[in-house]
Amino acid sequence: MATEGAPPEFKLSLDSTAIAEGPEGIGESPFDFTAAPEAMEYPAELGDDPAIALRRTLGMFATGVTVITTSAHDQVHGMTANAFMSASLNPPLVLISIDRRAKMCNLLHEGDRYGVSILGEHQTEMSDRFAGRADDGVPQPAFEIVRETPLVEGALAHFVARVDRTYYAGDHSLFLGHVEYARHNEGAPLLYHGGRYERLGTDAQVVPELPEGLLPPLLAAGEQCSFADGDAIVRRGEVGDQLFVILSGNVTLQRPGHPDKHLEAGSYFGEVGALSGESRVSDAIAVGEVSCVAVGSDALKSVLAGSPDASWEMLGSLAQRVREA
Ligand SMILES: Cc1cc2nc3c(=O)[nH]c(=O)nc-3n(C[C@H](O)[C@H](O)[C@H](O)COP(=O)(O)O)c2cc1C
Repeated sequence: MATEGAPPEFKLSLDSTAIAEGPEGIGESPFDFTAAPEAMEYPAELGDDPAIALRRTLGMFATGVTVITTSAHDQVHGMTANAFMSASLNPPLVLISIDRRAKMCNLLHEGDRYGVSILGEHQTEMSDRFAGRADDGVPQPAFEIVRETPLVEGALAHFVARVDRTYYAGDHSLFLGHVEYARHNEGAPLLYHGGRYERLGTDAQVVPELPEGLLPPLLAAGEQCSFADGDAIVRRGEVGDQLFVILSGNVTLQRPGHPDKHLEAGSYFGEVGALSGESRVSDAIAVGEVSCVAVGSDALKSVLAGSPDASWEMLGSLAQRVREA
């Protein structure tokens, strides 16, 4: 029986734990009738401890990273969690799984609200801080309060949910939350996989037209920007000093009297404006969703100055372009 050994607050009859007014047949089979589980089987190289083996295997499931927040006694409490999932759109429900030893677990009760802040790729320090691994000197996080619930500023998306039901789940508790507030920003998420932080593989998608030595410093010096299908990233005649490196998607360069030129991830455009300050000669139009890094001419100059060999190689790629034009 699944609830055997459960703390008393979870020893509820199924009727009282099933979601009210669920469709017929859902939540009706009592746990008592489920077959007794067999011991988990796993390869010997994962060691003697089944919990560690399970954790390492579960680690293959790539997730985002959230900070779950609540306020108690006028104090904000936050906890890093990747066990977050959408549960239902109508009604709007989300689910989090919290270790029963975590302080957060004692703070959350049915009827309370919790915040979920989905971290962006730049927020690893934030994640470490709320996982109790903060280094000294990490800046204090800032919160905004929505519906009396703290949310981490600068995160990619925010939810406020009211605990609808709690469920016993072994050494964890599940908190099903009714979403009362949802908002998102643009940007790339922080990922967690195999026990490590990861980022979306935008760099890996780049098949560089730019010399290898220039690509990382240019990506680091620029600002990531996204465009929707049909957006004009650059307009002919306008003055602009940014070079764009395409991370994903396709861009068409349109110039009267010239055939359209199609650029893919790894290619770049806008170099004339960036190098000479002259106005744009082509329209650059996004085909599908496009993600680019835009590098201003000052940043470009310092990257080129820092890598003379790679700059020489880039001259070769520019010369090729001139020849093709
Ligand atoms: C990436 C990452 C994901 C985590 N996900 C969870 C989770 O989903 N549930 C959980 O209970 N703990 C999770 N933890 C561990 C908690 O963040 C950690 O135990 C924290 O210190 C608990 O805080 P508290 O006891 O102050 O509430 C995660 C840690 C990291 C680094």
